[in-house]
Amino acid sequence: MRARRALLYSPGDDPHKVRKAAALEVDCVCLDIEDGVAINQKEAARETIVKLFPELDFGHSERLVRINPVGSEFIDDDLVAIIPIQPDGIVIPKVKSRDQIQWLEERLTELENQSNIPLGSIIFIAIIESSLAIVNLKDIASASTRLEALIFGAEDLAADLGADRSKSSWEVFYARSAVVTYAAAFGLQPIDLVNIDFKDLDNLIFSARQGAKMGYVGKQVIHPDQVEPVQEAFTPSEDQIIDAKKILDAYNQHQEAGQGAFALDGKMIDAPIVKSAQSIIQRAQAAGKI
Ligand code: COA
Ligand code: MG
Repeated sequence: MRARRALLYSPGDDPHKVRKAAALEVDCVCLDIEDGVAINQKEAARETIVKLFPELDFGHSERLVRINPVGSEFIDDDLVAIIPIQPDGIVIPKVKSRDQIQWLEERLTELENQSNIPLGSIIFIAIIESSLAIVNLKDIASASTRLEALIFGAEDLAADLGADRSKSSWEVFYARSAVVTYAAAFGLQPIDLVNIDFKDLDNLIFSARQGAKMGYVGKQVIHPDQVEPVQEAFTPSEDQIIDAKKILDAYNQHQEAGQGAFALDGKMIDAPIVKSAQSIIQRAQAAGKI
């Protein structure tokens, strides 16, 4: 499992921000050609990304590009420009149906062939940000073996629903919960909503912890100041790691003794608790804490 605790968007047409993002040691850098880029700057964004990508050292960061939606007038120019530089993955916005991902799969396979890139090496991350996408989650989540994560896009969804965004995000709770549920069902990583109020770090931390408690493994961010608190919120704490190891050790001993459920520090431990402990250890390993 790759750590995707923070996924930072940087507008692809802004070379200063692209350079800055590459140096931040964020888990995922996502160079944007979609909504963070003005319509008349799409070509400038492609050119900037294609020029800077091979020059920059992104360290351990995953190198992602957010293309324009499948079916938009920009999609083919985006793909023809971006695939030859071989990003680690493509972030697909405004996905509404399985067909869109399958169309992209076919087009990508052609372009990988043309550029002599190993087939299937570029992964997909789909943004779920409309009512239709929520209704079609099962079909979308199972559309491609390239798909590794689902992103929850609360702003576009709220616009689609006519919902008024609040700090607690209660108004998008059904969708936020659906994304994390379908991601778990199909073995994908769920990545949580953006906090657009980038000066309010208290609410960012509240929101990140809320997402982590729901099962999200990471969160989208839009500003360098958001990276560190978000990565921290999605990294298991020392106490969580110690407790998880204790549970797993005790579980192994009790299994050998032929005992399923047992008591540890006044709590009942059985299979689901053990599964949660294993997940904490996996996330700590992915974050380099173990
Ligand atoms: N990626 C990389 N660097 C960024 C950045 C980002 N997303 N956002 C800000 N920075 C840089 C700025 O260039 C500035 O660098 P400097 O100190 O070397 O001059 C520094 O971080 C501080 O930025 P600040 O002045 O606080 O913000 P700003 O007014 O320059 O930018 C935004 C504010 C919101 C426009 C900017 O954060 C941004 O473009 N975010 C991404 C937007 C986006 O991609 N949206 C689509 C996805 S939802
Ligand atoms: Mg969006």
